[in-house]
Amino acid sequence: MTNTGSSPSRFDIVIVGGGPVGLSTAWHAAARRQRTLVLDRYGFFNEQAGSSGAERHWRLQYTQEDLFRLTMEALPMWRRLENLAERRLVHHIGSLWFGDIDVETNEGQIATTARIMDRLDVPYQWLTAKDIENRFGFTDLPSHYEGFLQPDGGTIDVRGTLAALYGLAQREGCVLSGGETALELLPDADGVTVRTDRETYRAGTVVLANGPGVNDLLAPLGATLDIRLYEMALVSLRRRAADVDFPFWFVFQQPTEEDTNLFYGFGRNPWSPSELVRLGPDFEVHPLGSAQGATGRPDPRHVDRLCSWVERHLPALDPEPAHTSSCLAVLPADPRRQFYLGLADGLVPGGRNIVLYNSGWGFKFVPLIGRICSDLAIDGRTDFDIARLAPTGPQEADR
Ligand code: BEZ
Repeated sequence: MTNTGSSPSRFDIVIVGGGPVGLSTAWHAAARRQRTLVLDRYGFFNEQAGSSGAERHWRLQYTQEDLFRLTMEALPMWRRLENLAERRLVHHIGSLWFGDIDVETNEGQIATTARIMDRLDVPYQWLTAKDIENRFGFTDLPSHYEGFLQPDGGTIDVRGTLAALYGLAQREGCVLSGGETALELLPDADGVTVRTDRETYRAGTVVLANGPGVNDLLAPLGATLDIRLYEMALVSLRRRAADVDFPFWFVFQQPTEEDTNLFYGFGRNPWSPSELVRLGPDFEVHPLGSAQGATGRPDPRHVDRLCSWVERHLPALDPEPAHTSSCLAVLPADPRRQFYLGLADGLVPGGRNIVLYNSGWGFKFVPLIGRICSDLAIDGRTDFDIARLAPTGPQEADR
């Protein structure tokens, strides 16, 4: 954006961060006739944050019932997005959770989640270790492992989603400015002044959906979100035969002294099948001091831990990595908390004009979070139950 006049360009909403949530918010806000600007410091379609890669896990199930209800509300919004984009984005290849059903992990717990599925009447198949071995080709699982296959779960096409959201935001008239960095926010009772490396804007409301950069903008206002950054390994492995396929799978195991002992993997991408599938350890260990601390390379011990697990338990894959990389996961410091989502009211002066979305494994909620952020930005409230996620409210542990 270049403003040749002397007074700042005015927008109803300025969104900092043009990732999936920023673009989804822009689409929803502009559809409600809000003059909307999105700033992304790296340019659109970058993979600077999030769990990176072409796919994300889609699942209905959560161990927390309020989050479970939110995924059920997100599903019809995905369908609407798919209809508008004329493209399938969520592929229902199933979501398989198995392991020690009582272990409490950062990602939830199998037994409690099954009880919630019973209560909400969500279908699933309960499976023993032998069922999982016979049906999906895992081997040598501890005999007490059990789990479930939830058939509505699966995998989300990340690049398709970003392209769809970008196109819709653009079609609704949003101004999309890549390579522009927000440097300072000056909130007051009537709105927020946003200073960037190029311009100064005046907004009614600012939405911060800028991942690890959030505290750079909040700290000068006297507050920070308690987040942790983890550089996590991603590993692509070769299928040993063309007919090998899996649902999305996640194994819940007792933590070891060194790591959280959680592993996951995708099946073939239905939209771009290849001989490779992507897996990862979900090790929330050794947080980085800042995003600049990321090396871009996975911890070799984490790659080894994953590949050793595969060698023992998943003979359908060649455990020699075909490709490795890393991603930057931004997660709340309290692992029982899932996201920050809400107004910054009470957090920083003038915070009622700032909407925050930050951290957590949020891709599966993208159309819903965009709707919620635009509700908050326009109406100052939303009908969706996001009490647990309030940046200033009670933490999950207190509920
Ligand atoms: C999730 O479904 O939220 C998830 C999947 C893989 C790794 C971490 C989280």
